[in-house]
Amino acid sequence: MTARIIDGKAIAAQLRGKVAGEVARLKQAHDLTPGIAVVLVGTNPASEVYVRTKSKAVAEAGMRAIDRKLPETTTEADLLTEVARLNADPAVHGILVQLPLPKQIDSQKVIATIDPAKDVDGFHPVNVGKLASGLPALVPCTPLGCVVLAKTVHPSLAGMDAVVIGRSNIVGKPVAQLLLAENATVTVTHSKTRDLPTVARRADLLVAAIGKPEMVRGDWIKPGATVIDVGINRMPGEGGKWRIVGDVAFGEAQKVAGALTPVPGGVGPMTIACLLLNIVRAVCMQHGLPGPKI
Ligand code: GUN
Repeated sequence: MTARIIDGKAIAAQLRGKVAGEVARLKQAHDLTPGIAVVLVGTNPASEVYVRTKSKAVAEAGMRAIDRKLPETTTEADLLTEVARLNADPAVHGILVQLPLPKQIDSQKVIATIDPAKDVDGFHPVNVGKLASGLPALVPCTPLGCVVLAKTVHPSLAGMDAVVIGRSNIVGKPVAQLLLAENATVTVTHSKTRDLPTVARRADLLVAAIGKPEMVRGDWIKPGATVIDVGINRMPGEGGKWRIVGDVAFGEAQKVAGALTPVPGGVGPMTIACLLLNIVRAVCMQHGLPGPKI
């Protein structure tokens, strides 16, 4: 068997096009231009790249990106004041504080200060609780992207055995909640799970979000399963260059899986597309408008 490759780049482009259409409708029918504040503290090179990519995608969708760059030495009190200012600004519909933050700042405190209605990352405890309770909420972008990709293969996930490898607050836990909301039977595994390959092999839908390059081998995969690879790992490549690999050994997985996301070009582009979708959802919620039909 050779797995079908799930083209995250193309699916994300389609979603971005739909979001841009919704943005045009909000402008025309309601005189609303969605705006997001992207806050970057310090000069982490990876974060700088992410923030630049996000702001560019926001502008391309016809929305306003307000970039706030703060120095590495910013105090927690100063960042909380900035978040409070953005909470109060009616032109700002979404607030994204890029993580990780410098060590003098408590990330959880910052996340809890963001107005839940503007929390386009879906990290605020109110949104985490709503997701866990099955209530409408802003939900984290990468997990949402994973579920959208899985549904391109299986329009209904009901009754599927889903195994999530990794239990982070950013991916593992929320993706498990979203899959549960789709009526999958969900197992969440982690570093203490016994005989992980055997547990993984039970999955009809396997989500790998561990952050360990190529940890999931071909023999961890049930023949025909759908595999969503969330990992983005930088490895030394040929000629002193870097190459990006996922958490799944792609070549091995391709021979066993039914469908598989590549890295790069799988989940990564979906994260940004889902962020754009969340901004539009936030605007609609704040203005009592029906959410986008996407
Ligand atoms: N850093 C890495 N991923 C993310 C994300 O999804 N949101 C934010 N705010 N920071 C991140």
